[in-house]
Amino acid sequence: MCGIVGYIGTREAYPILLEGLYKLEYRGYDSAGLALLDSGVIQLIKGVGEISKLEEKVGGRKLTGCVGIAHSRWATHGRPSDGNAHPHSGCSENFVVVHNGIIENYQSLRSRLKEQGHRFSSETDTEVLAHLVEQYYDGDLLEAVQRAIEEVRGSYAIVVMSAYDPERLICARKHNPLIIGLGDGENMVASDLPAILSHTRRTYFLEDGEMAEVKANEVNVFNQQGERIEKEIFEVTWDAVAAEKGGYPHFMIKEIMEQPQAIRETLRGRIDAERGKVCLADDLHFSCQELKNYRKIWIVACGTAYHAGLVGKYLFEKLVRIPVEVDLASEFRYRDPMLDKDSLVIVISQSGETADTLAALRLAKTKGIKILAITNVVGSSVAREADEVLFTWAGPEIAVASTKAYITQLIALYLLAIYFAESRGMLEAGEEANYIKILQSLPEKINEILADTTAIEEVAAKISSWENAFFIGRNLDYAVAMEGSLKLKETSYIHAESYAAGELKHGALALITKGIPVFAVATQEEVFEKTVSNIKEIKARDAFVIAFTFQGKEELAEEVDQVFYLPCVSDFFAPVLSVVPLQLVSYYTAVKRGCSVDKPRNLAKSVTVE
Ligand code: F6R
Repeated sequence: MCGIVGYIGTREAYPILLEGLYKLEYRGYDSAGLALLDSGVIQLIKGVGEISKLEEKVGGRKLTGCVGIAHSRWATHGRPSDGNAHPHSGCSENFVVVHNGIIENYQSLRSRLKEQGHRFSSETDTEVLAHLVEQYYDGDLLEAVQRAIEEVRGSYAIVVMSAYDPERLICARKHNPLIIGLGDGENMVASDLPAILSHTRRTYFLEDGEMAEVKANEVNVFNQQGERIEKEIFEVTWDAVAAEKGGYPHFMIKEIMEQPQAIRETLRGRIDAERGKVCLADDLHFSCQELKNYRKIWIVACGTAYHAGLVGKYLFEKLVRIPVEVDLASEFRYRDPMLDKDSLVIVISQSGETADTLAALRLAKTKGIKILAITNVVGSSVAREADEVLFTWAGPEIAVASTKAYITQLIALYLLAIYFAESRGMLEAGEEANYIKILQSLPEKINEILADTTAIEEVAAKISSWENAFFIGRNLDYAVAMEGSLKLKETSYIHAESYAAGELKHGALALITKGIPVFAVATQEEVFEKTVSNIKEIKARDAFVIAFTFQGKEELAEEVDQVFYLPCVSDFFAPVLSVVPLQLVSYYTAVKRGCSVDKPRNLAKSVTVE
């Protein structure tokens, strides 16, 4: 989720590119850079840090050139560093590239290019693109880029600039957005609308497989076969703020809607569908013996990440048959946990900067325990200090209430549990392949849930006048109920409690009164009837019960006030689906109550104090 801006025209490009980068800051960044082309010479400036750091680096220097490309980076391959910042060049600075996405086969391409004499200066996947273009350039930049992208596997939005071809920028897209802004005597390229809106509202949206040559007075778009095509101009009517949110009113709903894609990113390159295998060899470096020797797993995290950890406990205990203790990082660090050498500590943190999680990690490390981190931020403290890291690749999460990071943490935990189970010989023939098929099917099933939110909005309207609510479930459903309850609390300020469904009658049932909203998650087959009995106890006290179960469980409709049917999937994977309507309920309730959805009171996105 990096930001791209490109300009070609008659004005000085530097201020336009810089303004564009600032407009894309909301996407997250850890480094930034730009390249300007003037009189056949490319000037490249880049470095780690915020956009303002880049501006400082330029200082009082007068940067000239009416053609340029710029990039703000959210690290994927390679930590945030000066060398890894974009634009990337080939062996010389005559070809420069900015890129969003992931080149999956970059290692083999890099080895081949090195053998052919190319010298690499970064750890990124992107750099292979610059060298490929350099390799294939034979007087026509468009053709060189065409040949380069034929060789890469993965996802990309790229813009290429060459000192040998100063009249045009070449761009291409596959699975990552790229927009061309059409001006008068000038044109722009960007990953997102905010970067161009102050200059033009007339745009082309490139589709997957399309390429374009962008000149000052002309833009030509080509399809995958290299044929010139006519594009329809899209006139943008969104204001700048709406554009940042992709047209959604809040980041939270945008991020909820991005979950199918986020899951695909977490899975990308980590499953071999043909062989039916989870492959984490590029991410993790455990020896077979290590994987077999662990006797206990600790999962340590805070808030929503802790709730993902609770799901992880069920997954590991069921598949790997290894005991798992899930701890809040703020408790773990102060209770002298009994960590043995044959334990593994898994820390989960979206930001990778949460003070308590980091302290817990450091404590476990001082005891010589191996740490595996599940995090979303490359270069974060947690990622740097852990022994092993599994990135979630959810892209920057801006809303304080975590949604897409949570769901990708779940996916990472499924991958890990399957990987451990397989390594320890715990899976039956065909079981792993079956899990992989299910994991691959989840994005589409979530899309089905997201396709129509009308009924959820109606429930949100009904509960929005209440000041208390309950969430119940058993086993995996209980873990999801905890997350549902936290989401509602933090976004709508409704006091919400989550209970293991069987536990309510040991006290909290006293709080159930007429009309009080109770969300019941009932997806787990083994305990389905038990949960239904608990629902009946609640209904007998006249609560307003909203249930979440699978299609085919129509009998539940008779017991409750409203049922949401989830697309069918093995109940072992239910949390990935059942959390989605709960996130939506929280979102629409918060909107209805006029709350500050993306920035709830008293909260911060990253809690770097204990
Ligand atoms: C709730 C939420 C928080 C975070 C918690 C940990 O929606 O986002 O509870 O989950 O502060 O943050 P990370 O995952 O960054 O360590």
